[in-house]
Amino acid sequence: MTRNEIFSKLWELYSIQNPSILKVHKSFTNYGEQVINDHVAFRTFNDPRMDIDVLERLFIYAGYVKKEDYYFKEKKLIAKHYEVPNHPEEPKVFISQLVLEDFSDDLQGIVLERLNSVGNIEYKSKNLLFDGNIWGKPSYKAYHKLREESEYAAWLYVYGFRANHFTISINHLKKLKSIEVVNQHLKDHGFLMNNAGGEIKGTREELLQQSSIMAENLKVEFIEGEYEIPACYYEFAIRYADSNGNLYNGFLAKNANKIFESTNYHSDS
Ligand code: NI
Repeated sequence: MTRNEIFSKLWELYSIQNPSILKVHKSFTNYGEQVINDHVAFRTFNDPRMDIDVLERLFIYAGYVKKEDYYFKEKKLIAKHYEVPNHPEEPKVFISQLVLEDFSDDLQGIVLERLNSVGNIEYKSKNLLFDGNIWGKPSYKAYHKLREESEYAAWLYVYGFRANHFTISINHLKKLKSIEVVNQHLKDHGFLMNNAGGEIKGTREELLQQSSIMAENLKVEFIEGEYEIPACYYEFAIRYADSNGNLYNGFLAKNANKIFESTNYHSDS
């Protein structure tokens, strides 16, 4: 698949599955803005059937190269980011994975049982990143059990493989030119901001500032019945140039640590 095909398909699924995403997107285009993606992010488990090395292939074949590694001690995650050389206008790709062995036997047991519920052939699908939940109906009880140790694990247990978030590049906006103005625009349109560690993650001096809305709650069919839980969210990022005039292209673990919490279980009010 070409990069265009990959992101068109990811966007189609993400915007159909999460109704608030198109509302956010429209609030920008109705304002006369052109929406350019800073990065698209994915989540997975560090199981060799589906880890970062497996998920990155789609992007490597499409011309992406690995840039940097990240470690999130508190969340027990590692991540890598990818770029297309000489194409700074193309979205970066950010893939993180949960380090299963750092969690309790209980958590590992629940996750492994689910991962083992399908054959290896499912994980070899060229479309894995678009396939979403390949494991069938989740258990609501297990979802909440996982949340006790990791909101990330609980989210991934339910939703599987998909774009976790797209990110609007504030650098490419013509009128909404600062992160403060973007956040106000979002609040004026009724979107709930992720306030973990403050509404704005990062400082101008750190060369990257990010914010995000909380994932909207969607109805999910569980074994026990239908319940509403957070799905995917939208992120917003602005990058600054360093003292040599080069725009910062990396990620800051400190920022991302709090951005991950956009899928934490919450009520919409
Ligand atoms: Ni992100």
